[in-house]
Amino acid sequence: MNEIKTQNIQWFPGHMTKTKRLIEASLKLVDAVAEIKDARIPISSSNPDIEELIGKKPRIVLLNKCDMADNQVTAQWISYYNSKGIPALAIDCKSGKGQNNFVPATRKLLSNLIEAKQKKGIPNPTIRVMIVGIPNVGKSSFINRVVKKNRAKVEDRPGVTRGGQWFTLDRGFELLDTPGVLWPKFEDQTVGERLAFTGAVKDQILDAELLAVRLLDLFKEIKPPIFIERFKLTDDELEMESYDLLGVIAKRRGMLISRGEPDTERAAIMLLDEFRAAKLGKISLETPKEL
Ligand code: G4P
Repeated sequence: MNEIKTQNIQWFPGHMTKTKRLIEASLKLVDAVAEIKDARIPISSSNPDIEELIGKKPRIVLLNKCDMADNQVTAQWISYYNSKGIPALAIDCKSGKGQNNFVPATRKLLSNLIEAKQKKGIPNPTIRVMIVGIPNVGKSSFINRVVKKNRAKVEDRPGVTRGGQWFTLDRGFELLDTPGVLWPKFEDQTVGERLAFTGAVKDQILDAELLAVRLLDLFKEIKPPIFIERFKLTDDELEMESYDLLGVIAKRRGMLISRGEPDTERAAIMLLDEFRAAKLGKISLETPKEL
């Protein structure tokens, strides 16, 4: 098995500097920032500089893909963010679950600002929110869901040169898409792996066996019930070295090469595919305890 190769980061610093500049300029145009994360990996699906970039701007966290995450763990994440004074919502852009809470939660977050504007004689001030998130976290899906199709608009405004696109929601509420590309913390191997588990890192040359073994390392701790049931795994098997456990999984699926040896490579690809399709159950790979 080879080392996992994550994104080539040669060009990363230059792009990041450009994105930072775009975000800093765009922040002046918005009242709040909505940060979308993958509910299964809220730590790894974050941009490492985002908090510093956002500064004191009010912020709301959207835990997307909650249809694939463990509901209890998602609830723990919501409590975690709330304890930091940050509202957080579980959303699922596949079904639209939770999306209706976005506007009311953001208005509540900005209630002081709205009140101040109303006192100044603006009865219905327009709320402007920037959507940020690393690639693949579901930004486009979210925008497509919450923006009424015929009301989506592309508009150039001062301060936003490239990438920043404005969308109008109902009742004086506007969204600005992430200007530029916000990358995750690729230089961290664990982050790279977790993004690869979820399929967020797609076009890389990855060693499927190594990746599956790492995923099994996590499963052995999490013990996802549907995964255990699907492969009829015993307690003893769950104590095995992860590579041997992959062999057991291969055998259970009849994936064999010559002389009855398990085809661990095929099993690895199958396991990763099934995890990405949520066939192994609703599994969260990160909890607030890791922080
Ligand atoms: P981005 O703009 O942040 O890069 O992300 P995008 O909306 O393109 O979403 C990335 C992938 O995640 C898409 O799948 C999208 O369908 C999927 N996705 C987004 N939100 C959710 C969610 O809440 N639940 C689930 N299960 N999936 C979600 P894809 O395979 O790239 O494309 P496709 O399957 O939609 O064709």
